[in-house]
Amino acid sequence: MTRSRIHLMATAMITLTLTITNCQGDERPPNVLLFMADDLGYGDLGCYGNTTLRTPNIDRLASEGAKLTHSLTAASICTPSRAAFLTGRYPIRSGMASPHFVRVSFLTACNTGLPVSELTFAELAKQAGYTTALLGKWHLGWSTDRSDPDHKHPLNQGFDYFYGIPLTKMKDFDSREVKAWRRARPTIGWILTMTCVMTLVFTWSLIRLARLGRTGSAMAVVVMVTVILTCGLVYWVMENLELLNSFFYRNYELVEQPIILPQVTRKLVREGVEFLEQRHADSQPFLLFVSWLHVHTALDTAPQFRGQSLHGPYGDAVEELDWGVGQLLDTLDRLGLTDTTLVIFTSDNGAHVEESDFLGRRSGGYNGGLRGGKAHGAPDGGIRVPTILKWPGKVTPGHVTDEPISLMDVMPTIAHALHVQLPANHVVDGKDLLPLLSGEEKRSPHEFLFHYCQDEVHAVRYRPRDGSKVWKMALYEPAYLLQTDHCDFLCRCHDATPLDPPLLFDLTSDPGEQHPLSAADLPEYRALVNLMTKALRKHKDSIVPVPNMFSVYNMLWRPWNQPNCNFPEFQCSDSKFGQVFDEDVS
Ligand SMILES: *[C@@H]1O[C@H](CO)[C@@H](O)[C@H](O)[C@H]1NC(C)=O
Repeated sequence: MTRSRIHLMATAMITLTLTITNCQGDERPPNVLLFMADDLGYGDLGCYGNTTLRTPNIDRLASEGAKLTHSLTAASICTPSRAAFLTGRYPIRSGMASPHFVRVSFLTACNTGLPVSELTFAELAKQAGYTTALLGKWHLGWSTDRSDPDHKHPLNQGFDYFYGIPLTKMKDFDSREVKAWRRARPTIGWILTMTCVMTLVFTWSLIRLARLGRTGSAMAVVVMVTVILTCGLVYWVMENLELLNSFFYRNYELVEQPIILPQVTRKLVREGVEFLEQRHADSQPFLLFVSWLHVHTALDTAPQFRGQSLHGPYGDAVEELDWGVGQLLDTLDRLGLTDTTLVIFTSDNGAHVEESDFLGRRSGGYNGGLRGGKAHGAPDGGIRVPTILKWPGKVTPGHVTDEPISLMDVMPTIAHALHVQLPANHVVDGKDLLPLLSGEEKRSPHEFLFHYCQDEVHAVRYRPRDGSKVWKMALYEPAYLLQTDHCDFLCRCHDATPLDPPLLFDLTSDPGEQHPLSAADLPEYRALVNLMTKALRKHKDSIVPVPNMFSVYNMLWRPWNQPNCNFPEFQCSDSKFGQVFDEDVS
């Protein structure tokens, strides 16, 4: 045998062994544990530079996994952002990008929501034989009508178990607060009142002056009464969002109304621990999505966290959130599941910088040095979120990447991790993150990302294949109050000013978007703008029209679908938890 043949055989054997080891390593895909916070800002965590809030558990997760410093949500507000997170697709593809100013559903009993035909990561996990669960916030449409194959419910989108809130926690759940709709849209109250008054005056004049006769007058009175009743109903609904939305379900059963705010995080933790223990016992692979109600307002925590942080109720909520994450990570450790579980932590959008409570204290988070926040269109504060991904054996602990990625990438990353094929003709905008996070690739899998506000693109991000910069072209400027980077309460996309020519930012040196570049500053300005405009046109061409899930008809309240406990008391408590948390109820 010649030397080279021996060498060749040795190489072949090494390759063979490697392949086998790889196969063995890959044989059992990881469990998946996802954490999503609500409205948590880019600058609210210790591992993202916050020195005054204590988040040791999430910080530890970051040191054991990869920290993504340029992670982007598909929308600056929860419903469309979550639709994109679950499906890996821009919300416009599923009809979840609203064409008008209401971008989220605010009633449980309405017909908006993620179409059941959409493919979620939970459905992928089920295909792979996983046991799946969603704990906490859903906010993607609700119906308990199981006879309808298209009813919107987590259990009809790939989850085996659901415990949580169909909609979202709301500021209105705290009776001391100013109703959110009065803060967000103070004019609506006026419009309703004026409509009523005008109808009264108009009908009265018609009857008196136009001498309508008996039939005419009767018809006018019917119109008048209808208008007034409708106005009254709208007013009543908007004033009673707590009654209409504050409840917890377990699968299809309403178990708690109203939600006892200080107990929420502990209940989610208990359910999470129980789920993990069951999976440990039955050795089933699992996907658990813990969708915290923190740190959305109304803010309240367990007594042990109250007043403990340096940042009021908001800081207390962040610290309780961190505690909850820690409890579940400790459970993985205790059950010996840590090395076989892929863990992701993120937030659905940036901090709500305009939020304050009834005492005038700021109750929204902090977006670090980023401009703007939740609900704003183009600026990064609303869409760049803390994101950590830990995958033992695949992602080097302590890895940090500054490459732009999207939360839409989570779905295809899970598909890849679980060895599930996505359907061939199905458009997914996200990309597998593993090559970037394992260090195999140096660059973001995305050359362009498009940032929507409602159904309009307000900015385009460009990561060239060569060079080291990330560019952003802003097409709209939010309607900020004079000399500030915030709106009155929630920025409206329609009020944003179109920018012509667009503003260009070099996000690598200017993440706070303070120094727009013009053609005079930058020789390649025109080439960059042209390139991004072309990419945007191509993206828009790829959008196939679908039914709009936010049509007025879909958004209407459906009293016959309204969940309630013990009518007309509207009250019940979850027997599963019995008296355990009684210390909170005063
Ligand atoms: C930490 O977070 C709090 C709450 O959002 C914020 O008020 C504070 O400015 C942040 N501190 C630092 C040092 O980043």
